[in-house]
Amino acid sequence: MEVLNLERKPIVGISMKIYKNTSEELQVYTNTLVDKYPKDLNVDVFILPSMGTLHPVSKILLDTQVGWGSQNMAPFKNGAYTGELSVESLVELGAKYVEIGHFERRTIFKETDEMIADKVSLALENNLIPIICIGEFSRHDLASVQGELESQIGSALSQADSGQLNQVVFAYEPAWAIGQREAADYTYVHKVHKLIRTILKDKYGDQDTSGTRLIYGGSVSMDNAEAIMDSPDVDGVFVGRFGHDINNFIEIVRLAQ
Ligand code: PGA
Repeated sequence: MEVLNLERKPIVGISMKIYKNTSEELQVYTNTLVDKYPKDLNVDVFILPSMGTLHPVSKILLDTQVGWGSQNMAPFKNGAYTGELSVESLVELGAKYVEIGHFERRTIFKETDEMIADKVSLALENNLIPIICIGEFSRHDLASVQGELESQIGSALSQADSGQLNQVVFAYEPAWAIGQREAADYTYVHKVHKLIRTILKDKYGDQDTSGTRLIYGGSVSMDNAEAIMDSPDVDGVFVGRFGHDINNFIEIVRLAQ
């Protein structure tokens, strides 16, 4: 069944993971991004800095068109949760986004579906845009991928208010394409994004999810971004290592326009 593509603004982001961890590195990167930010751009752009550099980045991006957020947060607002980042701090600093359920968090840090669902509802309650990472853990046929995605989407949104689903961004990041030299083949990405759109529409209805944006992540570069985004079902890309050179990231942002 064809899914209606109501106006969805393109969105491109970058996560620094913990590759760039000093204030100086991030200040240089973020200032350059603000300086070179293309005028009249109709694309939402965001940066997810390394946790220790959130504060200097938030100061630079105050009152600019570039959004920022964190790569994770606690599933609880407040309390005895040693070593976690509270949504209260993100709100105070002026964050707009929070990444939830990245493959590295699910596997290395053992995040469960339940924690991910708690974080998604907490983000939405606090008016942050959750960037929910989904994707198969290993290469499979499309039918098994569909099953895995249905289950990840269903559990991530299990506590979310249906009226807020249009605010959500899903990042489709197949685990086997993260940290590689090449991204997943663009024809495959287009197929899976179409599938995700159909899953969303069938499960939650067009009205609640026609504005839900779907971006692809996993070894996105200047060389593959254009082909990946050349589909009505791909609303943007989520960049990692190949955006560490700010000029490359800006070029990818331009390609999304
Ligand atoms: P990568 O990271 O582009 O360096 O593979 C992407 C991601 O994990 O989001």
